[in-house]
Amino acid sequence: MKKIGILGGGQLGRMLLQAAINYPVETFLMENDAECPAAHLCHHFTKGDITVFDDVYNFGKGLNAITIEIENVNDAALEKLESEGVKIYPRPAALKIIKNKIKQKQFYKDNEIPTSDFFITQNVEDLKALTHFLPAVHKIGEGGYDGKGVQIIRTSSDIASGFNVPAILEKMVAIHKEIAMIVVVSQTGETALYPPVDMVFDNRLNLLSYQISPADITEKVLWKAEAISLTVVKALQSAGIFAVELFVDKEGNVLVNETAPRVHNSGHHTIEANYSSQFDMLWRIMLQYPLGNTEHILPAAIVNIIGAANCTGTPVYEGLEKVLEIPDAFVHIYGKTITKPGRKMGHVTILSKEKQELIHQANRILQTLTVSSYG
Ligand SMILES: Nc1ncnc2c1ncn2[C@@H]1O[C@H](COP(=O)(O)OP(=O)(O)OP(=O)(O)O)[C@@H](O)[C@H]1O
Ligand SMILES: [Mg+2]
Repeated sequence: MKKIGILGGGQLGRMLLQAAINYPVETFLMENDAECPAAHLCHHFTKGDITVFDDVYNFGKGLNAITIEIENVNDAALEKLESEGVKIYPRPAALKIIKNKIKQKQFYKDNEIPTSDFFITQNVEDLKALTHFLPAVHKIGEGGYDGKGVQIIRTSSDIASGFNVPAILEKMVAIHKEIAMIVVVSQTGETALYPPVDMVFDNRLNLLSYQISPADITEKVLWKAEAISLTVVKALQSAGIFAVELFVDKEGNVLVNETAPRVHNSGHHTIEANYSSQFDMLWRIMLQYPLGNTEHILPAAIVNIIGAANCTGTPVYEGLEKVLEIPDAFVHIYGKTITKPGRKMGHVTILSKEKQELIHQANRILQTLTVSSYG
């Protein structure tokens, strides 16, 4: 049996392991916290730091393959493991480009992939010379996630809230909508695309509020999005699952926002809504089986279950019964031991032929299901 390791034990690792039990594979997982959402679902748990060379290298030695659930892993250790014959999904060279937003933007530019214009900045001082470029979005080079590390700089009076570390300043896009494409790349370079997803954001938290699949876009925008997404993964030269986040601007241009080299929040609906889920597909890639079918069975919406403001501690879920009364609603609680304001604690997928019904139920769930804490 193949031995496959996962770096990171959050919800992505958890859903990946749920899909693994269908296949002959021995699973390994490394995470700092033995109580993490994925820890009890793998065959072999290792407590370790995914950012530390020795921890990653020792974990990976002797495995057939490794995948990641977060970009912030020690890529030098992965490179050494790759040179010793361990297959890494995504390849460390691709990971190194994506992990740093400066390198990632430069990569799009070098490969003539449409993306918003940008400047590289080293500190807040550099922003002062770029007032002609405002309004713009300042993004930290490394270490940002879930909207942390992204700052809108509308006018020169916002410059003080910029980042004092290497970052990019991107031209503000007049966004019509944000969509995401999950792209599948097999070991032999075969590709498949999932239907794109519409992402609808909550501006207060900068966290995704809900998403609808398939996205409501014209055929022309779909073709552009597909062509661009395939160009991104071809240029990255790596097998694996990739999520390409795209902006459709008010003129119908399609621009890449960013790419994740892994299973992604924008693909969670594929568990129920598509024939082969993004998690099933990653096992097929890593175990070198034929790819599955990416087509959707029914349109779907996803609502994130987010920790309530002012609540930190052991989570209490309210409204689950009400949500489960909704036809074709599927609840995924991630099993995090602590809830925090804005933390992703789970998601609900709703299936329906009717788009209006999906939006209606998504809003109902957002209002019904809450995560508070004891005390
Ligand atoms: N150039 C831009 N113009 C307009 N809006 C932008 C731009 N860049 C980012 N945004 C807005 O900020 C959001 C977060 O940006 P981005 O996806 O780069 O950050 P992130 O920290 O990786 O977030 P996440 O982890 O949630 O994907 C985008 O989804 C979009 O709504
Ligand atoms: Mg993003």
